[in-house]
Amino acid sequence: MTKLIKTINEMKKISKSLKLQNKKIGFVPTMGYLHKGHLSLVECSKKENDITVVSIFVNPTQFGENEDFDKYPRDLERDLKLCEDAGVDYVFAPRASEMYPEGYSTYVIMETLTDKLCGKYRPGHFKGVLTVVNKLFNIVQPDNAYFGEKDYQQLIIIKKMVEDLNMNVNVVGCPIVREEDGLAMSSRNKYLSEEERKSALSLSKALFLAKELFEKGETNPQKLKEEMKKLILSYPLVKEIQYIEIVDPITLEEKQKVEKGDRVLLAVFVGDTRLIDNIKL
Ligand code: PAF
Repeated sequence: MTKLIKTINEMKKISKSLKLQNKKIGFVPTMGYLHKGHLSLVECSKKENDITVVSIFVNPTQFGENEDFDKYPRDLERDLKLCEDAGVDYVFAPRASEMYPEGYSTYVIMETLTDKLCGKYRPGHFKGVLTVVNKLFNIVQPDNAYFGEKDYQQLIIIKKMVEDLNMNVNVVGCPIVREEDGLAMSSRNKYLSEEERKSALSLSKALFLAKELFEKGETNPQKLKEEMKKLILSYPLVKEIQYIEIVDPITLEEKQKVEKGDRVLLAVFVGDTRLIDNIKL
Protein backbone atom coordinates (compact mmCIF):
# COMPACT_ATOMS: atom_id res chain seq x y z
CA MET A 1 0.00 0.00 0.00
CA THR A 2 1.45 3.36 -1.05
CA LYS A 3 1.27 6.02 1.65
CA LEU A 4 0.82 9.65 0.62
CA ILE A 5 2.90 12.09 2.69
CA LYS A 6 2.12 15.76 2.33
CA THR A 7 4.29 17.49 4.91
CA ILE A 8 8.04 17.83 5.29
CA ASN A 9 7.90 16.95 8.99
CA GLU A 10 6.03 13.72 8.43
CA MET A 11 8.41 12.68 5.65
CA LYS A 12 11.42 13.49 7.85
CA LYS A 13 9.98 11.43 10.72
CA ILE A 14 9.45 8.45 8.41
CA SER A 15 12.98 8.69 6.96
CA LYS A 16 14.45 8.91 10.45
CA SER A 17 12.55 5.87 11.61
CA LEU A 18 13.52 3.90 8.48
CA LYS A 19 17.17 4.77 9.10
CA LEU A 20 16.91 3.58 12.69
CA GLN A 21 15.57 0.29 11.35
CA ASN A 22 18.60 0.12 9.00
CA LYS A 23 16.34 0.18 5.95
CA LYS A 24 17.91 1.19 2.67
CA ILE A 25 15.94 4.06 1.11
CA GLY A 26 15.67 4.40 -2.67
CA PHE A 27 14.39 7.74 -3.95
CA VAL A 28 12.84 8.74 -7.27
CA PRO A 29 12.32 12.52 -7.48
CA THR A 30 9.70 13.51 -10.08
CA MET A 31 7.40 16.32 -11.08
CA GLY A 32 4.56 13.85 -11.48
CA TYR A 33 2.44 12.96 -14.48
CA LEU A 34 4.30 9.68 -14.35
CA HIS A 35 5.12 7.58 -17.39
CA LYS A 36 7.04 4.40 -18.11
CA GLY A 37 10.33 6.27 -17.81
CA HIS A 38 9.58 7.15 -14.19
CA LEU A 39 8.31 3.64 -13.52
CA SER A 40 11.59 2.18 -14.79
CA LEU A 41 13.36 4.27 -12.13
CA VAL A 42 10.97 2.88 -9.51
CA GLU A 43 11.73 -0.63 -10.71
CA CYS A 44 15.49 -0.03 -10.32
CA SER A 45 14.95 1.44 -6.87
CA LYS A 46 12.83 -1.47 -5.73
CA LYS A 47 15.53 -3.94 -6.77
CA GLU A 48 18.29 -2.13 -4.89
CA ASN A 49 16.58 -0.85 -1.73
CA ASP A 50 14.23 -1.90 1.08
CA ILE A 51 11.93 1.10 0.71
CA THR A 52 11.11 3.25 -2.31
CA VAL A 53 10.02 6.87 -1.99
CA VAL A 54 8.74 8.84 -5.01
CA SER A 55 8.42 12.60 -4.71
CA ILE A 56 5.88 14.46 -6.80
CA PHE A 57 6.52 18.17 -6.82
CA VAL A 58 6.27 20.58 -9.73
CA ASN A 59 9.13 22.76 -8.63
CA PRO A 60 8.40 26.42 -9.36
CA THR A 61 12.02 27.55 -9.02
CA GLN A 62 13.20 25.59 -12.04
CA PHE A 63 10.73 27.19 -14.47
CA GLY A 64 11.54 30.46 -16.24
CA GLU A 65 9.01 33.28 -16.46
CA ASN A 66 7.80 32.34 -19.92
CA GLU A 67 7.88 28.61 -19.35
CA ASP A 68 5.15 26.05 -18.75
CA PHE A 69 4.88 25.97 -14.92
CA ASP A 70 1.14 26.75 -14.91
CA LYS A 71 0.22 24.34 -17.66
CA TYR A 72 2.63 21.54 -16.63
CA PRO A 73 0.43 18.39 -16.50
CA ARG A 74 -0.69 17.38 -13.00
CA ASP A 75 -2.79 14.38 -11.94
CA LEU A 76 -2.04 13.20 -8.42
CA GLU A 77 -4.82 10.59 -8.37
CA ARG A 78 -3.49 8.93 -11.52
CA ASP A 79 0.10 9.11 -10.22
CA LEU A 80 -0.87 7.53 -6.90
CA LYS A 81 -2.55 4.65 -8.70
CA LEU A 82 0.55 4.09 -10.86
CA CYS A 83 2.76 4.19 -7.74
CA GLU A 84 0.47 1.77 -5.98
CA ASP A 85 0.64 -0.67 -8.92
CA ALA A 86 4.43 -0.29 -9.07
CA GLY A 87 4.81 -1.10 -5.37
CA VAL A 88 6.05 2.32 -4.22
CA ASP A 89 6.07 2.60 -0.41
CA TYR A 90 5.74 6.38 0.01
CA VAL A 91 4.75 9.26 -2.25
CA PHE A 92 6.01 12.57 -0.93
CA ALA A 93 3.98 15.43 -2.40
CA PRO A 94 4.71 18.62 -0.47
CA ARG A 95 3.04 21.98 -1.03
CA ALA A 96 5.06 24.71 -2.75
CA SER A 97 4.23 27.03 0.16
CA GLU A 98 5.96 24.66 2.55
CA MET A 99 8.97 24.02 0.32
CA TYR A 100 9.40 27.74 -0.37
CA PRO A 101 7.77 29.72 2.45
CA GLU A 102 7.73 33.48 2.42
CA GLY A 103 11.25 34.83 2.82
CA TYR A 104 12.88 31.72 1.36
CA SER A 105 16.35 32.77 0.17
CA THR A 106 18.89 29.93 -0.03
CA TYR A 107 19.85 28.39 -3.38
CA VAL A 108 22.47 26.00 -4.75
CA ILE A 109 24.51 27.52 -7.56
CA MET A 110 27.03 25.54 -9.60
CA GLU A 111 29.71 27.62 -11.28
CA THR A 112 30.40 25.22 -14.15
CA LEU A 113 28.31 22.90 -16.33
CA THR A 114 25.05 24.77 -15.79
CA ASP A 115 25.59 27.54 -18.35
CA LYS A 116 25.80 25.25 -21.39
CA LEU A 117 23.31 23.18 -23.38
CA CYS A 118 19.86 23.58 -21.75
CA GLY A 119 21.29 26.00 -19.17
CA LYS A 120 22.16 28.48 -21.92
CA TYR A 121 18.51 28.73 -22.95
CA ARG A 122 16.92 28.27 -19.52
CA PRO A 123 18.75 30.69 -17.23
CA GLY A 124 18.22 29.80 -13.57
CA HIS A 125 16.77 26.38 -14.40
CA PHE A 126 19.58 24.33 -12.89
CA LYS A 127 19.78 26.60 -9.84
CA GLY A 128 16.15 25.59 -9.20
CA VAL A 129 16.81 21.91 -9.92
CA LEU A 130 19.88 21.70 -7.67
CA THR A 131 18.14 23.57 -4.87
CA VAL A 132 15.06 21.39 -4.85
CA VAL A 133 17.02 18.14 -5.23
CA ASN A 134 19.24 19.20 -2.32
CA LYS A 135 16.16 19.97 -0.20
CA LEU A 136 14.50 16.68 -1.17
CA PHE A 137 17.66 14.73 -0.32
CA ASN A 138 17.77 16.42 3.09
CA ILE A 139 14.14 15.55 3.76
CA VAL A 140 14.06 11.98 2.38
CA GLN A 141 17.64 11.01 3.34
CA PRO A 142 17.98 8.43 0.55
CA ASP A 143 20.80 5.93 0.20
CA ASN A 144 20.26 5.79 -3.57
CA ALA A 145 18.54 8.32 -5.86
CA TYR A 146 17.43 7.53 -9.40
CA PHE A 147 17.37 9.93 -12.36
CA GLY A 148 16.66 9.31 -16.03
CA GLU A 149 19.37 9.85 -18.63
CA LYS A 150 16.83 11.72 -20.76
CA ASP A 151 17.71 14.81 -18.72
CA TYR A 152 21.38 14.05 -19.20
CA GLN A 153 22.77 17.44 -18.18
CA GLN A 154 20.61 17.35 -15.05
CA LEU A 155 21.99 13.92 -14.13
CA ILE A 156 25.60 15.09 -14.57
CA ILE A 157 25.17 18.25 -12.50
CA ILE A 158 23.35 16.40 -9.72
CA LYS A 159 26.22 13.89 -9.58
CA LYS A 160 28.64 16.80 -9.39
CA MET A 161 26.70 18.56 -6.63
CA VAL A 162 26.68 15.36 -4.57
CA GLU A 163 30.44 15.00 -5.07
CA ASP A 164 31.27 18.69 -4.47
CA LEU A 165 29.13 18.91 -1.32
CA ASN A 166 30.09 15.45 0.03
CA MET A 167 26.48 14.39 0.20
CA ASN A 168 25.69 10.87 1.41
CA VAL A 169 23.65 9.80 -1.60
CA ASN A 170 24.52 7.48 -4.44
CA VAL A 171 23.14 8.99 -7.65
CA VAL A 172 22.11 6.38 -10.20
CA GLY A 173 21.46 7.23 -13.87
CA CYS A 174 18.97 5.00 -15.70
CA PRO A 175 18.58 4.52 -19.47
CA ILE A 176 16.08 6.52 -21.51
CA VAL A 177 12.77 4.71 -22.03
CA ARG A 178 11.35 5.19 -25.53
CA GLU A 179 7.99 4.63 -27.17
CA GLU A 180 8.00 1.82 -29.72
CA ASP A 181 8.69 4.27 -32.54
CA GLY A 182 11.65 5.88 -30.73
CA LEU A 183 10.14 8.97 -29.06
CA ALA A 184 11.71 9.44 -25.62
CA MET A 185 9.08 9.25 -22.85
CA SER A 186 8.36 12.65 -21.32
CA SER A 187 5.48 14.20 -19.41
CA ARG A 188 5.66 17.06 -21.94
CA ASN A 189 4.71 14.69 -24.81
CA LYS A 190 1.18 15.27 -23.57
CA TYR A 191 1.29 18.76 -25.11
CA LEU A 192 1.75 17.35 -28.63
CA SER A 193 -1.12 17.22 -31.12
CA GLU A 194 -1.39 14.13 -33.31
CA GLU A 195 0.49 15.86 -36.12
CA GLU A 196 3.13 17.31 -33.78
CA ARG A 197 3.64 13.86 -32.31
CA LYS A 198 4.77 12.71 -35.80
CA SER A 199 7.26 15.57 -36.08
CA ALA A 200 8.52 14.85 -32.55
CA LEU A 201 10.02 11.67 -33.96
CA SER A 202 12.63 13.84 -35.68
CA LEU A 203 14.65 14.03 -32.44
CA SER A 204 15.22 10.31 -31.93
CA LYS A 205 15.55 9.69 -35.68
CA ALA A 206 18.33 12.31 -35.84
CA LEU A 207 20.12 10.80 -32.83
CA PHE A 208 19.93 7.31 -34.31
CA LEU A 209 21.26 8.69 -37.60
CA ALA A 210 24.22 10.34 -35.83
CA LYS A 211 25.05 7.06 -34.10
CA GLU A 212 24.84 5.16 -37.36
CA LEU A 213 27.08 7.63 -39.22
CA PHE A 214 29.57 7.62 -36.34
CA GLU A 215 29.67 3.85 -36.34
CA LYS A 216 30.35 3.97 -40.08
CA GLY A 217 33.42 6.12 -39.35
CA GLU A 218 32.28 9.77 -39.35
CA THR A 219 34.09 11.58 -36.51
CA ASN A 220 33.62 15.19 -37.62
CA PRO A 221 31.02 16.74 -35.27
CA GLN A 222 30.05 19.42 -37.81
CA LYS A 223 29.24 16.81 -40.45
CA LEU A 224 27.20 14.76 -37.98
CA LYS A 225 25.31 17.84 -36.82
CA GLU A 226 24.60 18.94 -40.41
CA GLU A 227 23.05 15.58 -41.26
CA MET A 228 20.96 15.67 -38.07
CA LYS A 229 19.81 19.20 -38.83
CA LYS A 230 18.76 18.27 -42.38
CA LEU A 231 16.75 15.34 -41.11
CA ILE A 232 15.05 17.31 -38.32
CA LEU A 233 14.11 20.22 -40.55
CA SER A 234 12.47 17.84 -43.03
CA TYR A 235 9.66 17.35 -40.49
CA PRO A 236 6.89 19.91 -41.10
CA LEU A 237 6.00 20.94 -37.54
CA VAL A 238 9.52 21.49 -36.27
CA LYS A 239 9.58 25.17 -35.34
CA GLU A 240 13.17 25.57 -34.18
CA ILE A 241 16.27 23.58 -33.39
CA GLN A 242 17.51 25.17 -30.18
CA TYR A 243 20.78 23.24 -30.07
CA ILE A 244 22.51 20.10 -31.25
CA GLU A 245 25.79 19.40 -29.49
CA ILE A 246 28.24 16.53 -29.29
CA VAL A 247 30.00 16.65 -25.94
CA ASP A 248 32.31 14.87 -23.55
CA PRO A 249 30.01 12.82 -21.30
CA ILE A 250 31.43 14.22 -18.04
CA THR A 251 32.70 17.76 -18.73
CA LEU A 252 29.93 18.45 -21.28
CA GLU A 253 32.57 20.29 -23.38
CA GLU A 254 31.98 20.27 -27.14
CA LYS A 255 34.17 17.82 -29.05
CA GLN A 256 36.33 18.67 -32.06
CA LYS A 257 36.71 15.01 -32.94
CA VAL A 258 34.03 12.59 -31.87
CA GLU A 259 34.96 9.50 -29.84
CA LYS A 260 33.11 6.45 -28.59
CA GLY A 261 31.22 7.27 -25.38
CA ASP A 262 30.61 10.93 -26.32
CA ARG A 263 27.06 12.18 -25.98
CA VAL A 264 24.90 13.84 -28.63
CA LEU A 265 22.27 16.12 -27.07
CA LEU A 266 19.57 18.24 -28.64
CA ALA A 267 16.63 20.49 -27.85
CA VAL A 268 13.97 21.11 -30.49
CA PHE A 269 10.71 23.02 -30.51
CA VAL A 270 7.92 21.01 -32.12
CA GLY A 271 5.11 23.53 -32.37
CA ASP A 272 5.32 25.32 -29.01
CA THR A 273 6.61 22.27 -27.15
CA ARG A 274 10.29 22.12 -26.27
CA LEU A 275 11.57 18.56 -26.38
CA ILE A 276 15.01 17.22 -25.43
CA ASP A 277 16.71 13.91 -26.10
CA ASN A 278 20.23 12.47 -26.28
CA ILE A 279 22.22 9.39 -27.15
CA LYS A 280 25.55 7.83 -26.20
CA LEU A 281 27.85 7.19 -29.17
O1 PAF B 1 13.59 15.68 -13.70
C1 PAF B 1 12.67 16.19 -13.03
O2 PAF B 1 11.51 15.78 -13.10
C2 PAF B 1 12.96 17.37 -12.12
O3 PAF B 1 13.90 18.22 -12.69
C3 PAF B 1 13.40 16.95 -10.69
C4 PAF B 1 14.71 16.20 -10.70
C5 PAF B 1 12.32 16.11 -10.06
C6 PAF B 1 13.59 18.20 -9.82
O4 PAF B 1 12.43 18.96 -9.74
